[in-house]
Amino acid sequence: MRTQVAIIGAGPAGLLLGALLQRAGIASVIVEQRSPEYVLARIRAGVLEQTTVDLLDQAGVGRRMHTEGLLHGGIELCFDGARHRIDFKALTGGKQVTVYGQTEVTRDLMAHRHAAGLTTLYEAEQVSVHGFDTATACVRFRHDGTEQQIDCDFIAGCDGFHGVCRASVPAPALTVYERIYPFGWLGVLSETPPVSHELIYTNHPRGFSLCSMRSPTRSRYYLQCPAEDRAENWSDDAFWAELRRRLDPAAAQTLVTGPSLEKSIAPLRSFVAEPMRFGRLFLAGDAAHIVPPTGAKGLNLAASDVGMLAPALAEFYAGSTHGIDSYSQRCLRRIWKAERFSWWFTSLMHNFPETGAFGQKMQHAELEYLVGSAAASTALAENYVGLPLEQ
Ligand code: FAD
Ligand code: DHB
Repeated sequence: MRTQVAIIGAGPAGLLLGALLQRAGIASVIVEQRSPEYVLARIRAGVLEQTTVDLLDQAGVGRRMHTEGLLHGGIELCFDGARHRIDFKALTGGKQVTVYGQTEVTRDLMAHRHAAGLTTLYEAEQVSVHGFDTATACVRFRHDGTEQQIDCDFIAGCDGFHGVCRASVPAPALTVYERIYPFGWLGVLSETPPVSHELIYTNHPRGFSLCSMRSPTRSRYYLQCPAEDRAENWSDDAFWAELRRRLDPAAAQTLVTGPSLEKSIAPLRSFVAEPMRFGRLFLAGDAAHIVPPTGAKGLNLAASDVGMLAPALAEFYAGSTHGIDSYSQRCLRRIWKAERFSWWFTSLMHNFPETGAFGQKMQHAELEYLVGSAAASTALAENYVGLPLEQ
């Protein structure tokens, strides 16, 4: 088999890249190790920046997102038992975010790819990438019981944090920056109306909590939990009781509980691998970087990476290597800003026992400053709604 761009991974980065390349008249094949059902069953992010919405529109997959997605013009920060609204629209000249689940983005991209007759090879085994530092790159794997090879001009490593692409780069060629946080997020999805019409981020002495949603009838809630905790340790009743304790009295009273549809723990990590290009191999999304989820930047960064990679490849086929030569540097400028924001928001909102009473006083002073100062609120708002693709 031969194609122009072999994409490893059918998560949001790989699927969106495939759709953007198709628009630019560039052929791609996606190789994914899991089944489509498995990919769709992963409950992850829920907040889209306008730049992500624009890229999904550009890719021709925005129709359902615009009818079913929820536009949010602000969030609420809760501490000391009181909520304070950060008004994104007022602070950023009218910008908003769209609440639309990663699962739905993925479903729309998969349907689009299927309808366009583009090749995605699911349940590929023993995927390996070769020759990306030579003129003849290729991908090898087992599919339907036979060994296969795809020869290609370029390989796009969109295979997530645990994928094969970053791992195939010789270690001396990579510089890795990492911070692991001493806690995780326990998430619950439930078919219950959201506690409030906007997201509530709570700093509480018992730990952070987040009230989010997927639709007017489906809620997504998170609790800070010990890194070594397990979802099986939490009954639904225990989850709801702990969430209620961390909310302000009005929200605690309004909260509607129900059976969990999904319950899982995600670890929190900051990670960047530099650079993002090695000859004919490009890394994009979680394959190159991870942010802690506070502020919902992970999926948006995956989208902005491929939003830069697709035009860079189109430029290459039109005769210029400028776009692919500057890809890594341009992505990393935006990535480090999102890393900083996610690290800052995580540090502000979570309970860090090791920082002691002084650390708690610092968090409290910063929260009061944040909700009382237009300058500080604006800094939060402009990062949350998303910085420009290139700045
Ligand atoms: P992925 O979505 O990880 O997709 C990579 C794909 O590559 C997968 O389908 C995988 O099966 C495939 N793959 C892996 N290895 C191979 C291989 N060797 N060969 C072929 N295919 C391979 N972000 C937020 O903003 N908010 C959240 O609440 C949030 N929650 C999260 C919870 C969890 C448990 C995780 C893991 C992430 C969460 N994120 C969240 C981050 C966000 O979901 C990711 O940033 C986003 O999925 C990145 O997309 P991606 O396409 O780069 O990677
Ligand atoms: C969601 C996740 C986040 O990390 C966040 O900051 C906001 C919302 C969510 O899953 O809905």
